[in-house]
Amino acid sequence: MISIWSNDTTISSREQLHGDIKVDVAIVGAGLAGVLIAYFLQKKGYNPVVLEASHIGSGQTKNTTAKITSQHNLIYDKLISKIGIEKAKQYADANQKAIIEYGKIINEFNINCQFENKSAYLYSTTETESLKKEAEAASKLGIPAGFTVQTSLPFPVAGAMIFRDQAQFHPLKFLDAISQKVNIFENTAVKTIDKNNIKTDNGIVTADYIVFATHYPFINIPGYYFLRMHQERSYVLALKNAVNIDGMYLGIDDNGLSFRNSGNYLLLGGGNHRVGENNAGGKYEFLRQKVKNYYPNSKEIAYWSAQDCMTIDNVPYIGQYSSGTPNWFVATGFQKWGMTSSMASAIIISDLISCGKSEFEDVFAPSRFNPAASLNILFEEGKQAVKGLSKRIFYIPKEHLQNIDNSHGGVIEYNNQKVGVYKDDKGKAYFIDLKCTHLGCQLEWNPDEKSWDCPCHGSRFDIRGNIIDNPAQASLNNKFRMKNQDAQEKEL
Ligand SMILES: Cc1cc2nc3c(=O)[nH]c(=O)nc-3n(C[C@H](O)[C@H](O)[C@H](O)COP(=O)(O)OP(=O)(O)OC[C@H]3O[C@@H](n4cnc5c(N)ncnc54)[C@H](O)[C@@H]3O)c2cc1C
Ligand code: FES
Repeated sequence: MISIWSNDTTISSREQLHGDIKVDVAIVGAGLAGVLIAYFLQKKGYNPVVLEASHIGSGQTKNTTAKITSQHNLIYDKLISKIGIEKAKQYADANQKAIIEYGKIINEFNINCQFENKSAYLYSTTETESLKKEAEAASKLGIPAGFTVQTSLPFPVAGAMIFRDQAQFHPLKFLDAISQKVNIFENTAVKTIDKNNIKTDNGIVTADYIVFATHYPFINIPGYYFLRMHQERSYVLALKNAVNIDGMYLGIDDNGLSFRNSGNYLLLGGGNHRVGENNAGGKYEFLRQKVKNYYPNSKEIAYWSAQDCMTIDNVPYIGQYSSGTPNWFVATGFQKWGMTSSMASAIIISDLISCGKSEFEDVFAPSRFNPAASLNILFEEGKQAVKGLSKRIFYIPKEHLQNIDNSHGGVIEYNNQKVGVYKDDKGKAYFIDLKCTHLGCQLEWNPDEKSWDCPCHGSRFDIRGNIIDNPAQASLNNKFRMKNQDAQEKEL
């Protein structure tokens, strides 16, 4: 199902690249981050081009909940204790500035994108201590924060932490307007990059500077982003006839929910999990159960899901891609806070390219490595990848084709091979090779999305093996699928 944003907005399409070109800056990826970076560079006198594999906004940006806030779950108290007040303040300032920039741009061009100032709340039904500590930490950094027990949630809370003067909007209406101001080639997937040369199937782009805004960077070495990021997925329902909620809410307890209004609709989010770890499914059902309790008279009008990149110290990677590539830049690891992080990326990267420095560069520098903040998690990421790889190589599936029900998927042994299979509602089977085309981990079935998801770094594939989400760049092995598909059809 598509999001309410995609349902009412079509961004006008652009030409493919045709032939070789030379530019000062090339940005790969036309999501919110890539388009804003291009817009900021253009304002500084550059002539950037954006290369987009599919369509503008067709990645995670079309499925966000679009809260524009510097309230990024519980973060400021942790940042102050782990990296110190100076860098914590850089983080707060960059995100607060991002909110102001949205207001300025929307005003300047009179963009009709349902931009509204709202307060943001973190709530808990069980405790208040961490919320009070967070409010104190955020206030210390200059954010208009406080603690309250008053909310418009449909259940009582122990307490809530409020950030005032935050905002929300319609992400695709904004992206539509701003993307018209920059030069973008669609259906132009970048295949490889060698120094200043970007190779696509439609031509080579030679650029003085290259910016990766592809959500998850797809060049593994240098950069090694696959060692320091995984992806998490969450689910959203849009409801009509639900009570209008005043503000944007996020629960900090286990299974905490997200709430915001958009016009007459209420968006309810939750069901978070690491990509590749949703074998049992039931995430939409979990949300629908909450709707029955809290908004029994409402009607579901849309459901969708999205995923985002999570870094090892909970701070995005924005800046130089790697020490050996001084003219490559990256904006990734947005932790499900990509509205402000995309704007912060545009501010930082346009400053780094135009004058070699940014007032916010230290805290977001991809080259940082704070062992105290990240060693344990780095170890966890490594363990997860080893698990994903060894499962593919050593694990022998117990199931056989006849045990898979219609409309279900699973890993089976078939013709002495381990394969993934999905049976549609008529019993037709779709086989896939379980080897992720990124770095080879075993894919896992996600019954909520009917997709094959990778637990290592979060790539996803549909039932036919076509790629849906990166960092993988290629669909699953085609010959394998056909061989088994033919065999199975004969058998049926
Ligand atoms: C459920 C959910 C709710 C969220 N809600 C919020 C919220 O309320 N507030 C908030 O701040 N954030 C939120 N986020 C996070 C936010 O949606 C994302 O961080 C943001 O949309 C990411 O934007 P992006 O431009 O980095 O990536 P994308 O929008 O994914 O754009 C990347 C683009 O790169 C292109 N691309 C990839 N590879 C190539 C290639 N090789 N060549 C050319 N192009 C390529 C893709 O096609 C895509 O268009 C949420 C995330 C989730 C999962
Ligand atoms: S996403 Fe990296 S191995 Fe699958």
